[in-house]
Amino acid sequence: MRVFVILPAAGIGTRMAAGGVTPAAPKQFLEIGGVPVLIRSLRAFLAVPRVDAVCVAVRGAERERVEAQIAEFKLGARVHLVEGGDHRQESVGNAMAALECDDDDIVLVHDAVRPLIDPATIERTIDAVARHGAAIVGVPAVDTIKQVDRTADGAIITATIPRERIVLAQTPQGARVGLMRRAFMEAETDGFAGTDEASLLERAGIEVTVVPGSARNFKITQPGDIELAEFYLGRATADLRG
Ligand code: C5P
Repeated sequence: MRVFVILPAAGIGTRMAAGGVTPAAPKQFLEIGGVPVLIRSLRAFLAVPRVDAVCVAVRGAERERVEAQIAEFKLGARVHLVEGGDHRQESVGNAMAALECDDDDIVLVHDAVRPLIDPATIERTIDAVARHGAAIVGVPAVDTIKQVDRTADGAIITATIPRERIVLAQTPQGARVGLMRRAFMEAETDGFAGTDEASLLERAGIEVTVVPGSARNFKITQPGDIELAEFYLGRATADLRG
């Protein structure tokens, strides 16, 4: 049983724009403490010896930049690049098609823009997939969750969803390759577009188990998130110093 990782990194990052101004680089290329977000994510997976290969989906125009960063940070041998698509699901699908793997192998997908994922959580996710077939990292909801109808002015609440039944989905999200392939094929046949892999697995009738994540494993999305990541990293350094 081998373990493959897919890092979709072909987003454009429009939500990162502050005051309507798009940042100079998509969020996976912004730097935290001098290290690009994508490189931090890659390093976390390469720190797990059980990971055989990592496939990064990038836009054609950014391929050279990513190759240069991989060389600069000496991440070489286990990293491969594929062309990303117009949607996350397409980027992951392209990487799935490029993997030379068996149905019994494990594939994990991780948002390149979650750079603070830690090797221990990755290990727990691999163990959960090995045991149950499919697993994702998630955190309990702390806020009260409302279902709404969108209106021109904003939204009107239609229901309150008991928060003890809610988990906020993070990544990695993974499955046995055979199950993930089936979920992707069924989604494509039905023209279904999901924002994560679990939604594809669920609709294919595959049970997906949840591994506890943490607030640290957040997705760099909005202005201020780079500073938040630096805060978490600074705190980790301070903890080490005691
Ligand atoms: O846009 P969102 O925050 O959901 O992006 C999650 C991840 O999917 C990011 O790492 C982003 O680069 C990636 N993505 C992709 N191809 C796209 C859109 C997003 O690889 N077309």
